[in-house]
Amino acid sequence: MATRYKLIMTLAAVALSTIFFASCATTPVEKPQALRHNQITMEDPAPALLAYQGKTPGEQEKIARSYEQQPPLIPHKIDGYRIDFKVNRCLECHDRPFYKEEQAPKIGDSHYRDREGKELTQIWMGRYNCNQCHVPQTDAPPLVSNTFQSIKTGN
Ligand code: HEC
Ligand code: HEC
Repeated sequence: MATRYKLIMTLAAVALSTIFFASCATTPVEKPQALRHNQITMEDPAPALLAYQGKTPGEQEKIARSYEQQPPLIPHKIDGYRIDFKVNRCLECHDRPFYKEEQAPKIGDSHYRDREGKELTQIWMGRYNCNQCHVPQTDAPPLVSNTFQSIKTGN
């Protein structure tokens, strides 16, 4: 009996509060425009696939950095450049033994130090997964317009 009484009281409370809030909502509120352009209950459509810019390494202009200490963006294509525990294609061009012959920008000295600052003869494993920080670019319009300006100096 007690549970049924509780249930009835809860239902009554819900009904009353619905009536109360409905009466408050007289002025229509402007709906926020979500970036997903979709109802929250609907599935998100996958964004259109955009081709990465940049072609074969060796023919691309470097991309200007936006701020100091930014991991430089990758100006060339990276399709098929494997990074796994056996091979790292990026190292085969950018690592100390190869960069001169490949005419590729040398990996920064910071990458050959561990987190305690100890100098290593090989790249520190914490930097092994290059694409975690360095990414290729697509010509995607910004989702939100902004007035950001890159640093004027630097490379
Ligand atoms: C075949 C050699 C080669 C391979 C493989 C290669 N790169 Fe490059 N990379 C270059 C060259 C050469 C440049 C200079 C720009 C150009 O000419 O394309 C460059 C430029 C870059 C830059 C820009 C550096 C700067 O100072 O602006 C980054 C970052 C980079 N590569 C990261 C990578 C990553 C990450 C991979 C692996 C996914 C990779 N590269 C694989 C040759 C290579
Ligand atoms: C944890 C983030 C991170 C990872 C992982 C990483 N880098 Fe970098 N990289 C940076 C940052 C930040 C810079 C710019 C500052 C510096 O040189 O330390 C940079 C700079 C560079 C440069 C330009 C150096 C110069 O003197 O202009 C090259 C080339 C490069 N990285 C290649 C690589 C390659 C190849 C890998 C993978 C083997 C890699 N990086 C992994 C963050 C990273």
